[in-house]
Amino acid sequence: MSGPNTDYDPVEVTPLKAEQVDEMREAALAAIAAAGDLESLKQVRIDHTGDRSPLALANREIGALPPQARKDAGQRIGQARGAVNQALAARQAVLEAEHEERMLVEEAVDVTLPTTRGRRGGRHPITLQSELIADLFVAMGYEVSEGPVVEAEWLNFDALNLGPDHPARSMQDTFWTEPAEDHVVLRTQTSPVQARTMLTRKPPIYVVCPGRVFRTDEYDATHSPMFHQVEGLVVDEGITMAHLKGTLDHFASQLFGDGIATRFRPSYFPFTEPSAEVDVLCFVCRNVDPASCRTCRGEGWIEWGGCGVVNPRVLVACGVDPSVYSGFAFGMGIDRSFMFRHDLEDLRPLFEGDVRFSSAFGTEI
Ligand code: DAH
Repeated sequence: MSGPNTDYDPVEVTPLKAEQVDEMREAALAAIAAAGDLESLKQVRIDHTGDRSPLALANREIGALPPQARKDAGQRIGQARGAVNQALAARQAVLEAEHEERMLVEEAVDVTLPTTRGRRGGRHPITLQSELIADLFVAMGYEVSEGPVVEAEWLNFDALNLGPDHPARSMQDTFWTEPAEDHVVLRTQTSPVQARTMLTRKPPIYVVCPGRVFRTDEYDATHSPMFHQVEGLVVDEGITMAHLKGTLDHFASQLFGDGIATRFRPSYFPFTEPSAEVDVLCFVCRNVDPASCRTCRGEGWIEWGGCGVVNPRVLVACGVDPSVYSGFAFGMGIDRSFMFRHDLEDLRPLFEGDVRFSSAFGTEI
């Protein structure tokens, strides 16, 4: 016979002596105590409690003993196995605790270490503001419409009732592309998207158009040659100024807070008749004690944009029958809205791309 269990081969049954069982037990207990980690303890468990372990083999021999010897041996072996199992469980608990402690130390992460990871880009606060505005209108059933920034002069001006000699043309200092005979401009307003929309689809039209616009303005704290506007256009049957007022009141309350409404001041825009300048109630002082308010500079109201009922001449130019349809339109500066919403005095940081500025407003990936 070869192998570790020759002494206990059932064929060579010898009466199980107390010393033999004690030896097996001591050997097992010593191996358990010596196991330095969970892996070796696993092996010890197999060696000393597995099917081929000395105690298991001895246990199998009990049946071949005479009755009294069987009882004694049964007791001894049972006790020995109990002691070994207990020792195993205790050692297992100790080793697991040690393992856990070591893992906590080894896998600890020092969150204060400087990172070597590159920063991920984030979307710009103005992009987020434009999306927020678009979302507010989408929630009311509008669609988002876009047009090119390099635009036909006719769509930027003529279609909107700003004929070649119209004095309002010079109000918007225009970038012209060369050659001039092409009559192409960088759009000075988002209003040409109105014309594009009416020319390409039939009413009912409910669209909102956020986008970039360009004017030959000096670059200073309150002007930039590129800025952002949002245009709204509704064309449907029976649309009145009252719909416009209700829509802008809702827009204002969503953007600036509950109870923030608008007021209209009579004005002039060639593409709307009647036209109005829109002011929004100062969302800081709410016109309660405006004298000391920095946001509205004592006015109680903040200039927000322009609006009006779409001029029938614009409807005709864009192929919409004014005897059936009427509409309203409005246009606001997004950067301006952002500035007073966040109490910014200077708009330049909005265009200079410093992440430290942008992230203060919560960029999103
Ligand atoms: N396009 C105008 C501007 O840039 C703003 C504006 C005013 C748009 C009245 C409109 C409107 O749609 O109805 O100054």
